[in-house]
Amino acid sequence: MSTLGLTETLAGGRRAALPFPADFWWGAATAAYQIEGAVTEAGRTPSIWDVFAATPGRIDDGSTGENATDHFHRYREDVALMAELGLAAYRFSVSWPRVRRAGGVGVNAAGLDFYDRLVDALLAAGISPVATLYHWDLPQELEQAGGWTNRDTAFRFADYAAAVAGRLGDRVRLWNTLNEPWCSAFLGYGSGGHAPGRTSHREALTAAHHLLLAHGLATGALRAAAITGQVGIALNAGTVRPVSNTAADLDAARRIDGLLNRIFFDPLLRGAYPADVQADTAGITDWAFVRPGDLAVISTPIDALGVNYYQPDLVGAAEAGATDPRTPYPTAQDIVFHPTPGPVTDMGWSIDPTGLRELLLRIRRDYGDIPMYVTENGAAYADRVTPDGRVPDPERIDYLYAHLAAAHEAIAAGVDLRGYFVWSLLDNFEWGYGYTKRFGLVHVDYATQARTLKDSAHWYRRVIAAGGVVARLPYE
Ligand code: FCB
Repeated sequence: MSTLGLTETLAGGRRAALPFPADFWWGAATAAYQIEGAVTEAGRTPSIWDVFAATPGRIDDGSTGENATDHFHRYREDVALMAELGLAAYRFSVSWPRVRRAGGVGVNAAGLDFYDRLVDALLAAGISPVATLYHWDLPQELEQAGGWTNRDTAFRFADYAAAVAGRLGDRVRLWNTLNEPWCSAFLGYGSGGHAPGRTSHREALTAAHHLLLAHGLATGALRAAAITGQVGIALNAGTVRPVSNTAADLDAARRIDGLLNRIFFDPLLRGAYPADVQADTAGITDWAFVRPGDLAVISTPIDALGVNYYQPDLVGAAEAGATDPRTPYPTAQDIVFHPTPGPVTDMGWSIDPTGLRELLLRIRRDYGDIPMYVTENGAAYADRVTPDGRVPDPERIDYLYAHLAAAHEAIAAGVDLRGYFVWSLLDNFEWGYGYTKRFGLVHVDYATQARTLKDSAHWYRRVIAAGGVVARLPYE
């Protein structure tokens, strides 16, 4: 990708062509269910993903996260890999089903012990721990009580946040309450493509509100626990573009932007749901789940916003009469998602770093000068270990290069971007795709659990050492 027309190589090699701020957090991210395995160890209770993945037909390759990358047992080796890369920060998620005790009374200390050890290992390696409290693995017991459609789940989440803060609050540097509540609500309860696999747009909207309420309550609980780190949330916000300037296509883009971005940003950062989203969805729900005082809780000030970015969306109105009954977006049955011209990753996701720059600038323009982190960005490719033990992944290097360049442009334009986390540290269980998609900087052989640094990991190590992007190619 040379779309940004940036310098590729540097004489001397070490000085960064695109220098980032000296205290910028160069990171990588993972999530508990995708890497830990050990689903029945140390008192862990079942999660909605255990149940969902075990249901035939839900996961492309019929796999589950039962073993995943065995990180629960290999975390020391994985922290050593992070140290080898020179990571400044590592974003992991805490598994609620590990911390919850069956029946919900008390806390499973053995589950917290694992994260205690992980955090200490990170700090010993000079890596700042960034903890996400909810990366989609709701305890199954809570789903049986209604899951995120049950308002009580938000209060249980705040209790859980307090328990984790009580143990890790002195050492975690940045907290993300939730990861991508859009996915939890609209894929989990709307399209059914994610756990728990329910298919009701009304329930999806209810879940979205309760997730936001959970975020606000947890933010309060973290602060009440006198944590030493900052608090934020990671959203899969996106850049939504109309396929043409017709009124119908512009309206499609407005509606998708409302249901992807503003339905979260507005209550979090302005204390109100967007009026157009409420009007658009009036035929689905009366929004009575929003109780007096909720929006004040949801808009409890946060320290930083996390943005997970992969690709922009290109949308337009469907042909008259054509509908997409399986859309995760409530009220979007008459909207078409068009393929973006140009290259795609192994996910079929378009490669367009301009969407990242636009998104960061848009958030600053519309919601103010809030500190931000790119909490996820990365690409899947069908990587293989070669006979000489390397994993050549030039496409991933191109992808990361171009997106870091876009982030650099956003900083130059005034965005207060504090860090960037590659998704992901390791190849892992990619939700509905199982083990068929590899996002890691580190290749994992699932038969042996052998880890091999990909070329992109070597490249990223050099970027980190130089304090900025040095070159696209790993070996110039
Ligand atoms: C994000 C998820 C993450 C991973 C990447 C590819 O939506 O937060 O767990 O699946 O996509």
